[in-house]
Order: sequence, then C-alpha cells, then structure tokens
Amino acid sequence: MTRTLITGGLVLTAADELHADVLVDGAHVAGIAAHGSHGWSADRVIDATGTYVIPGGVDAHTHMEMPFGGTLASDTFETGTRAAAWGGTTTIVDFAIQPRGGSLQEGLDAWHAKAEGKCAIDYGFHMIMSDVNESSLKEMDRLVSLGVSSFKLFTAYPGVFLSDDGQILRAMQRAAANGGLVMTHAENGLAIDVLAEQALARGERDPRYHGEVRRALLEAEATHRVIRLSQVAGAPLYVVHVSAREALAELARARDDGLPVFGETCPQYLFLSTDNLAEPDFEGAKYVCSTPLRPAEHQAALWQGLRTNDLQVVSTDHCPFCFKGQKELGRGDFTKIPNGLPGVENRMDLLHQAVVDGHIGLRRWIEIACAAPARMFGLYPRKGTIAPGSDADIVLYDPHAEQTMSARTHHMNVDYSAYEGRRVTGRVRTVLSRGVPVIEDRVYVGHPGQGTYLPRGVPQYAN
Ligand code: URP
Ligand code: ZN
Ligand code: ZN
Ligand code: ZN
Repeated sequence: MTRTLITGGLVLTAADELHADVLVDGAHVAGIAAHGSHGWSADRVIDATGTYVIPGGVDAHTHMEMPFGGTLASDTFETGTRAAAWGGTTTIVDFAIQPRGGSLQEGLDAWHAKAEGKCAIDYGFHMIMSDVNESSLKEMDRLVSLGVSSFKLFTAYPGVFLSDDGQILRAMQRAAANGGLVMTHAENGLAIDVLAEQALARGERDPRYHGEVRRALLEAEATHRVIRLSQVAGAPLYVVHVSAREALAELARARDDGLPVFGETCPQYLFLSTDNLAEPDFEGAKYVCSTPLRPAEHQAALWQGLRTNDLQVVSTDHCPFCFKGQKELGRGDFTKIPNGLPGVENRMDLLHQAVVDGHIGLRRWIEIACAAPARMFGLYPRKGTIAPGSDADIVLYDPHAEQTMSARTHHMNVDYSAYEGRRVTGRVRTVLSRGVPVIEDRVYVGHPGQGTYLPRGVPQYAN
C-alpha cells in the first residue's frame, strides 16, 4: 500500500478551507493536519504549494455512448471518463436505459457491458425508465438494493421516453416506499411536438427554432406538474437540467413550502444562450440540447438559485455528438438534430471561473460540483469530500493558470467545443483516483479499467 503525502496546499471542501497536509494511505484519505503539526512519513510526497487540494468532481449526469435519434453519443466510457479526469472529475453517474418492452435489468446489463474495464475513473448508474409497468415497478426495489437508487422519468420525447402522469405517479409511489429517488426531465413533450410540427410547416427549420418551440412555459408547466405528483406520492424529487427561470421559480416555491424537491442545472445554461443557437450556417446545431438554451436573462436567475440553494447541483448532461455527420443529420429539420452537448471536461473549470467572476464562493463551488451530487446520489462521504476514510479522489487545482477552451486541446471525442475560444482562469494539475494518479502534472497516466463500478446507497437529502 502506497502512502502519499500532499503538502502545502489549501484543502478545500464544501465545509472548510484549511492550509493543511493530506495523508493518503492506499485508496483512502488517512488524515488531514496543519503543515508541520504532524510526523507523517510517506512513500511519495506531492508538493501542492500554490494549489487548491479539492475532492474530485462528481458529475451526476452523463450519457456515454447514448443512442439518440439514430446515432450514438460520441464519447465511449473510455474516452469520456479520460476527458472527465482531465477536467478534475473523478466520479460519473451515467444513465442506463430500459429498452421499451424490456426490463430494467436488461438496460443495466447493457450499460455494464459498455463500461466494464473501460473507465479511467469510478462510475455508477441511474436508470432511465422508458416503460413503467407492473414488472418494471417491482424491479425498482431490486435496483435500489443493488445500488442503482435513482430513476429518470420523462414528460418529454413522446414515443421514445415519455411516461404519462399515472406512470410517473406510480414510480414516485414506489420510490417513496423503497428509498429511491425519482429524477425528471420536465418539459411538456406533447405540446412541444405540436409546436415543432407547426414551425416546420411554416418553413422554420433552423436550429434556433429548437429553442423557440421548447418554450420556457412548457418547462415550467411540467416542473409544476412533477412537483405536485411527487407531493401526492410523498416522494422526494430531483429535477434534472433546469434551464428556465420560470421552472426554477416552481422549485423555489415548493421548497419554500418545505417540500423535498431538488434541482440541477448545467454549465451550458449558465454560460451559453439562445444567441449560440442562432449562430449562422447551421453552427447553432452545436448548441441543441433539451431542455434548450434560454435567452441570457435566465442566467442571473440560475446563478441566484445556486447561491440560495434552490438549485443544489451542477452536472454536465454530457451527451456529445460531432458536428460533422451527427449534428448534421438535422440540416433542414431542427427536430432531427441529436440533442446534447459535450462538457464533462469543462465543468470544474467553468464553475471555478464562476468563483473568479463572483457568482459563487469557493466552498459553494465544491458543494455544487462535488459534495451535493455525492450526497444526493448515495455516494457521500466516500465521494465528494476530503475526510478520513473517504476515497482518495483528490485534485490539485491551480487557481492562477490560464487556459483557452478549444476542440484542438480538449480530450473529449467530439469535433467541436461548446466553449471554443473561452478564456478561463484555473486548471487541473494532478488527479488521484482512489490514491492512484490519473493525471500527474498535466500528463495522463491513467488507464482504462482503473475506474471501478460504484453501487450507490440511497440518497441523503441535505435540504
Ligand atoms: O439534450 C439532452 N439533454 N440530451 C441528453 C438526454 C437528456 O434528455 O438528458
Ligand atoms: Zn507537513
Ligand atoms: Zn433529459
Ligand atoms: Zn441527460
């Protein structure tokens, strides 16, 4: 067992900022103590002077190799987890998908087969329920006991993922009984499909119409509906990829009433807008995702929600499709553009930039990117913090390094960057996963299979 001592850095968790040394014994954190106050010896010493020593990021929303619109998200578990590590993320929770007409177990088996032996960092699974029926409802109990303790249901994508209100209510009732967490993609998909058809009939075919037909009101309506369904079921609720301020207002009101409802947003909603969707020459397709990007005015509300804790988590919803050959499937018909943005490598840096810009504080950065997602998805305190007994998933982060985000230098398997040319301050220097280096002084030293599967506990709700 290797003992590693990380000396001289500023140890940052969601709770503390300490000038301290961290002792790692094998795969775990063994101790934290003021520099010079201990007599620890180690096989290896990492000088962290001038850096933040932070818990590895927990990205609770990724889609590696996800099938969508006749194509597959372009990052595999191998390329996507390597890119995650480059960006300071050491845990992902990806979405296994129940095939329509099939079982949850079939979906889970398929995702295990894709990920096994491929990942550079640790990974767990949520389950997308695309067919809620007596037998899949029963299966939920077993999945929770196996460590797949969260279930995504959709009010969007009719004919693909959409569940009706009765199905959503049943899944919530089951989760209320078995301790699992229902996550929802909240947009009124049936209404959106009508508006999309009408737009196409008017000859409105460019990517920007994707944003126009997926109206903020229809996100707010569906958010309101799933909140009330969860209230009726007596179940907690986690709303994924919140982008509209009107939807956030529904969450905030419910939380003011004391309901256990939680919300996630993503960097694309904080840093990008409908201006990107309107870029000419079909470039807007690079920014097509659902929920869609909103006019820039929505960003201030989302930042406020992150400060007031009406939003608890920032995940990426990483679901990359190359511009060439994939996004291009929707040239002349925005409804055929595969939905999703790359970002698993960018999240920690963009949120650090938000600290630099004054939107959030340093500890809030760690809270929304590491600790809260770990708690929400049954991984805390193993993941999401630096504390005795925690996994030694540790990032040395240089808060002064400058970088320019670009497809030329990123490690995601996608031919564009949603943040091309953006200058940010702060960069990952070294990453340990369970005590073993994955990135060392900006050299990749990890390998596929270094990451292991994480059966998760049940969510811990921290208001
Ligand atoms: O556009 C997106 N978000 N693609 C991934 C699937 C989903 O709805 O999260
Ligand atoms: Zn020391
Ligand atoms: Zn979704
Ligand atoms: Zn998603």
